Amino acid sequence: LPLLALVAVAGYLLGSVPFGIVMARLFGLGDLRQIGSGNIGATNVLRTGNKPAALLTLLGDAGKGGAAVLLARALVGEDAAQVAGFAAFLGHCFPVFLGFKGGKGVATWLGTMLALAWPIGLAACVTWLVVAVIFRFSSLAALAAAALSPLWALLLGLPAYVILSIALALLIFLRHRANIERLIAGEEPRIGRKK
Ligand code: G3P
Repeated sequence: LPLLALVAVAGYLLGSVPFGIVMARLFGLGDLRQIGSGNIGATNVLRTGNKPAALLTLLGDAGKGGAAVLLARALVGEDAAQVAGFAAFLGHCFPVFLGFKGGKGVATWLGTMLALAWPIGLAACVTWLVVAVIFRFSSLAALAAAALSPLWALLLGLPAYVILSIALALLIFLRHRANIERLIAGEEPRIGRKK
């Protein structure tokens, strides 16, 4: 158990690295928290119009979730991989480096699931893409992908990931409360738009 606690702390710290903030600074875009939705994710970086910075944010935030899982799996084992992935997700949402005010966890969740159980991760990415292409709302795409992920876990014959998928989906919904209100009010900006 002390080893798993260590894995959780390491995963949390890795997940706490806010790639959106880092990329926005590197690309001279200013403080991401003063832009658009104020969120630290790739969707909000895209509102600056800088696609490379948004792509690097997506890859960085997904990559840290995936890296946490793969490192824990290689160094400790499969239980540690789940703990590390979940901890990295929590790190992104509640990062120690930003006073625990972090992001909504979507990219980190996708990277984590791709590394943990790639068929579920892939199904979640495809669900996100299909909803995003049709409706042009990043938040709606994330909510749909998260809500369907426990079902994907079951249908793809990976029941060991159902509980984790439900927990992550609940957290993703909680992190999107403001987006859900805007979607209902018809005020959610479409992907790439500033307003
Ligand atoms: O990945 C977060 C996305 O679902 C919503 O981001 O900036 O539109 O609140 P944002």
